[in-house]
Amino acid sequence: MKNGLKIESLTPALPHPMGKGETVSASWQVRDGQLLNTLLGKTNFSRAVPSLVKWERVGGFPLILFALICLTFNGFCADTEYKLVRIETLTNAVRVRLPLTDVTGKVRVKEKSSEGFGRPVAPSKVSLGKKHYLEWQIGYDLTNTNSPSVVPEIRFLRNGETKYGHELSKMVLEAVRLGLISTNQLVREIEALKKVQPSEFEENQTVQVEISTNNAADGFQSAIQRLPQFTKTTPHGWVQIQLKQKQRAVGYQAMVYVCLPMNEVLTPDGSPRKSGSARFKETVYYDFTRANAAFLLDIIHAFGIASQQHNEDVRKILGKILETAGR
Ligand code: ADE
Repeated sequence: MKNGLKIESLTPALPHPMGKGETVSASWQVRDGQLLNTLLGKTNFSRAVPSLVKWERVGGFPLILFALICLTFNGFCADTEYKLVRIETLTNAVRVRLPLTDVTGKVRVKEKSSEGFGRPVAPSKVSLGKKHYLEWQIGYDLTNTNSPSVVPEIRFLRNGETKYGHELSKMVLEAVRLGLISTNQLVREIEALKKVQPSEFEENQTVQVEISTNNAADGFQSAIQRLPQFTKTTPHGWVQIQLKQKQRAVGYQAMVYVCLPMNEVLTPDGSPRKSGSARFKETVYYDFTRANAAFLLDIIHAFGIASQQHNEDVRKILGKILETAGR
């Protein structure tokens, strides 16, 4: 049939209950537009009583499919929510919630190493303790307001494109609102960042490539690239700028990572997390309080010296925070 789908698995309304072995044959048609309703399980059954056996065979399939789609969608939403870095404001602290087992995401668990780059570990297989830390590729902006960690009031332009403050921006705004950071400290930071010279941006540091003079076996020549890393250590964690090869362009980009020692992270009730491997989809918390608010300024400063673009963005964000917090 060209414009309709013929389904022969539903029976019309019966005048009496069906007995054992009794069968009724009938045909039932889905008109244009009804197919979607059928798939969504919204079919109006008031005029037809399904024969259970046949209904399960054909009509049950779309329902099972629908249930599977719902379950998958639910799982997808739960996963997206789990991976989110959430920021909440407590009476005396800005609390950050981080996923512990999103090993391919922005927050990774690493074991400390002497050269400072750290070794990634499988969080559910290793007892996480003093030797471990979370390496968080913190963000400060987004192109939309679709995240709970966005601050729509912090809106700025980058090369003509509108950006909204995100993560670090929200943490700093909330820290100013709580009085953990003063507006004077922000003004001083803006002034300091204005003075950074182009040659001082870490992104402009030279990358050394050592090429060995001897040709290696089979005609291959070895070369070693040395990528610089800059670390500011505080008693409560450290912030790193790592130069990395750009993924879609020539040159290097400065990546900023906030490193939080595992012995400083908390459980949902705010108590210190005990050593142990990560539970399935475990989240941990880190509090910025009066004791470590200066660490937030170090993170801002890291962006400000990482590249010209970050410097400009961060100064705009701090300016907006001063306007917003003053209201
Ligand atoms: N842009 C936004 N967040 C960044 C980060 N952590 N490192 C480098 N560039 C970024």
